[in-house]
Amino acid sequence: MNLISTPAELMTKAEGILALNDRGSYTVPTHGLYPFQWNWDSCLVSLGQRHTNEPRAWLELHTLFEHQWDDGMVPHIVFHELDDGYFPGPEIWATGKSVPTTGITQPPVAGLAIRRLFEDATDTANAKRSAERLLPLVDRWHQWFYNHRDPERTGLVALIHPWESGRDNSVDWDAPFERVPVDGIAPYERRDLQHADAAHRPTKDQYDRYLWLVEHFRDLNWDNTKLHDASPFQLVDPGFNAILIRSCDDLAEVAEALGHTELAKRNRTMAQKGRDAMESLWQENIGQYACYDRVANTLCDSASIGGILAVLAGLPKARAKAIVKRIETLKEQVNYLVPSHDPSDARFDAKRYWRGPCWLIVNYLITIGLRSADEVSLAQEIEAQSLRLIETSGFAEYYDPMTGEPCGGSSFTWTAAMVMEFCQERHIA
Ligand code: DGY
Repeated sequence: MNLISTPAELMTKAEGILALNDRGSYTVPTHGLYPFQWNWDSCLVSLGQRHTNEPRAWLELHTLFEHQWDDGMVPHIVFHELDDGYFPGPEIWATGKSVPTTGITQPPVAGLAIRRLFEDATDTANAKRSAERLLPLVDRWHQWFYNHRDPERTGLVALIHPWESGRDNSVDWDAPFERVPVDGIAPYERRDLQHADAAHRPTKDQYDRYLWLVEHFRDLNWDNTKLHDASPFQLVDPGFNAILIRSCDDLAEVAEALGHTELAKRNRTMAQKGRDAMESLWQENIGQYACYDRVANTLCDSASIGGILAVLAGLPKARAKAIVKRIETLKEQVNYLVPSHDPSDARFDAKRYWRGPCWLIVNYLITIGLRSADEVSLAQEIEAQSLRLIETSGFAEYYDPMTGEPCGGSSFTWTAAMVMEFCQERHIA
């Protein structure tokens, strides 16, 4: 693997980052830039925490799900403690919750995390208790997705805000974003630029549109029976749907182990319907999946990582092979896999957030998909390159795939958690 550090040394460093960002019952992604609990960060972070403290890992998940909305949605940020170093804060979202939250969601990694925590547990009694408590909550969230974000029952859910994808400024959203107006938004001051290089972050034009959508949904009282249809932004992201499909499948595994056959069956059915529908997102000319713009009724012309992350869904063999080929092509253009956008596209930007940089969390999810498809050697290569990035550039939020330079925030929790997972090399098919 050509590493200077031993896995034990990397584990110790990663553990230090987790401790630094631990706030007792939840973990912040990083000090300053992201001072609250983020949804998919927490689920991914629990995967690292389990290697040193299983009860703490379960607690991370319990804390998140304590803030599940009555309709089943699990919000993308829980604002546990006020911190004006972040914008937009709770007063902008105004969702009316006793502990404030945002009003949108994030990729549901919960099922995948729970399965790993459960199956690898050494404290099996606690694992059983925790899984029993979480199963119905995650199941409700999965149902919420298909009820509120797939009104026509296509099998695929749409995002109504780029922040839901986690890939805030992906090239995928450029064309649909032209439809999102900017007039009438309240004046605002960004805070992210006080903590990170502006050249690594989304643009002002994108922020205006993020804010317009938030204000629009707030005007509709965050009523999820209305938001999907009222949004000018309805994007079906193959990566997001693959995460949801995997979450349903993994939750079903745990449910079966605990004898909850109805819950398991329901989740298997949702997963299979989603998997079948993924084929509608296949874009032959780029050899990968693409986002579908529901309002414009068109596939996006954008070869982003979202279409590669699709491999997590358990695709037909030929499609998984095609994704492998696609990653091999990208490999010829970068020094570190997997870039979040195709470098041969003029819109690629090596340092700007989701328009080019590589992210360890996406690498991790892709390797799980590749291993499930028996593509072990490519998975190992991505894992090795990910660890090499850590040695070169520390625990950054993301990295320039050409130079390996660290970008965005530093001492980043989920990056550390992924390092712990890679060092363990324990993967479930
Ligand atoms: C941000 O504020 O940059 C986040 O990505 C929103 O979740």
